[in-house]
Amino acid sequence: MENDLQAIVTQAEAILKTVKSRAEWEQAKATILGPNGSLTQAAKGIGRLSKEDRPAFGQALNQAKKKVEGFFKTSLELIENQADIHSLGEKTDPSLPPVPHHLGGTHPLTNVRRKVVSIFRKIGFTVAEATEVETEWFCFDALNTPEDHPARDAQDTLFFPADSKWSNIAQKNKEHHVLRTHTSSVQIRTLFKEKPPLRVIAPGRCFRRDTVDATHSANFHQTEGLYVDKNVTIKDLKAVLDYFLKELFGDQLETRLRPSFFPFTEPSFEVDLKAPNLGKLSNKWIEIMGCGMVDPEVLKLVNLNPDEWSGFAFGLGIERVAMILHGIDDIRHFYQNDQRFLSQFSNAT
Ligand code: PHE
Repeated sequence: MENDLQAIVTQAEAILKTVKSRAEWEQAKATILGPNGSLTQAAKGIGRLSKEDRPAFGQALNQAKKKVEGFFKTSLELIENQADIHSLGEKTDPSLPPVPHHLGGTHPLTNVRRKVVSIFRKIGFTVAEATEVETEWFCFDALNTPEDHPARDAQDTLFFPADSKWSNIAQKNKEHHVLRTHTSSVQIRTLFKEKPPLRVIAPGRCFRRDTVDATHSANFHQTEGLYVDKNVTIKDLKAVLDYFLKELFGDQLETRLRPSFFPFTEPSFEVDLKAPNLGKLSNKWIEIMGCGMVDPEVLKLVNLNPDEWSGFAFGLGIERVAMILHGIDDIRHFYQNDQRFLSQFSNAT
């Protein structure tokens, strides 16, 4: 009978050499150590032995069991190690050079906005912000643009339903909420919050019900500028804009102010520029932005005395600047997220 035990130990060792998975291991364990396993069955043979033979058999049985269990333990460790190694995937060589990976870049509109902000920072302007959802009053009425004013028709506005709630956007009366059509509303929000003298620029997103084509988009970006102090004149306006545009487009730039109309500035101008370094647009007068002296009506509305305070304001399209700077001929490129377009600007400033 002790020979039988030896045979079982040998059998266990042989089976375990062929076992490759946890399932096969379980199967092998059942064959030897399970209730019907060979070792369990052999152990039952003790009942048939005489009293004298039993202790020796018992001892041999224990030894055999220990050995077999030891084999199973080692085998299981091996299987589990193999599984771990497998789950770690292919061996890697840490001495290899890294796989090149694609670094993201900032959007060309972000680049232009940052550049504009940094140019104005140098001359003491700070950044003012307001929400993209506005009220009709801040977007139009406060800017001297009453409901029946022709300028209000020109701006095709996106209105929110009368019952929409915007608890964080203060209304003057019970007027509608709109998506702001320009950043000029930030002028009013700022003038209510801060006392002059003040110098702010307000970059942000605007919305109009324009049909999208190469030069129009229902959403676009502007930067507003506002300067209010004592004795501010058109000379100051021209000097600040000349400085700004030269920083942006280069020293060889010329500018001119052309009379125009905005309800909230008086007088109002369009700014044109001409420069030799603008590709196809070189040496031609190009309209770049609107500006003017803050209308006394606007100052009165925010409780400033127009005899004491004066100022200028301007509004600039960020897309327009980016298009002129980089020779881009279609505004839609900015919003299509095409890597072939965007990657060209990842190092631009
Ligand atoms: N808000 C005007 C526009 O969107 C631009 C502007 C801003 C003009 C400030 C004058 C002063 O066209």
